[in-house]
Amino acid sequence: MTPRSETAPRTRGGRGAVDPYRAVDRQADPARFAVILETRGSQPHQARLRQSFLSLAGVGPGMRVLDVGCGTGVVTRDAAARVGARGRVVGVDPSRALLQVARRRSGAGYDGGRPVFRRGDGSALPFASASFDVTLAVTVLLHVPASERVLDEMLRVTRPGGRVAVLDQDFGTLALDVPDRVLTRRIVDGHAERFYAEPWSGRTLARRLRLAGLGRVRSRAFVVVDRAYDGYVRSMLGRRVELAVAWRLVTAAEGRRWLESLEDAAARGDFFMSLNYYGAVGVRP
Ligand SMILES: C[S@@+](CC[C@H](N)C(=O)[O-])C[C@H]1O[C@@H](n2cnc3c(N)ncnc32)[C@H](O)[C@@H]1O
Repeated sequence: MTPRSETAPRTRGGRGAVDPYRAVDRQADPARFAVILETRGSQPHQARLRQSFLSLAGVGPGMRVLDVGCGTGVVTRDAAARVGARGRVVGVDPSRALLQVARRRSGAGYDGGRPVFRRGDGSALPFASASFDVTLAVTVLLHVPASERVLDEMLRVTRPGGRVAVLDQDFGTLALDVPDRVLTRRIVDGHAERFYAEPWSGRTLARRLRLAGLGRVRSRAFVVVDRAYDGYVRSMLGRRVELAVAWRLVTAAEGRRWLESLEDAAARGDFFMSLNYYGAVGVRP
């Protein structure tokens, strides 16, 4: 059998833990990340993606569900709506700032199911073994250097016969229709390699669930296409240029030129960006 150490994703981010999602509360403005997550979550294609993923995970009425790395609770709220009054959904996250927003968003005035939120790290989940029917982690593992430990913990707290379901982007699939391909690769791939613990996480998930010991692993691709250059997409691409310039992957002039080419495409109605998310689900023996 292949030792886990040989199959674990390489830990990148060699320039020093630049990914703010590893420690949201230590950032200068943690509230900004709550806004980013809620803005992303409010996009119609993201809402459809979540529903498809929760169906893949088999989340349904009466279940006990854990959402690891729940952030502001975007996925947790959808899971709570599915399990209904007889079920129970818990969101866990290390960030106090994100949990505060999560609690507010599902508190008074919210008419969906009522998830509960707890502070905790995915690598040491504060729950007894076999406590949940389904355990989820959505766009979390790609950010976490010790993600194998998180998967092991997800397995531990899932009951035998229950399911572990994970979803991540795969930044090797970020496609943009811009004329300068070389510059695009330097910005997009250069950013991904330095920023995420595992930028290609999406494609690794099915394999990693199997290696973690889950059975009957199934996977599914979700292709997200953005034709509007606004809000979340604009700030996502702007941040890539900022960092690519700071890391000297491109000059400030090249960064500006690249952003102008996106503006031009948007002005013509030709903006096109696509990113694959991959989900995988397996059954705990
Ligand atoms: C990109 S956000 C995704 C949030 C949420 N799942 C969603 O889809 O909106 C990544 C989340 O992982 C959390 N996170 C980072 N390190 C973690 C760890 N070691 N264990 C659990 N969660 C972690 C962050 O605080 C953040 O909320």
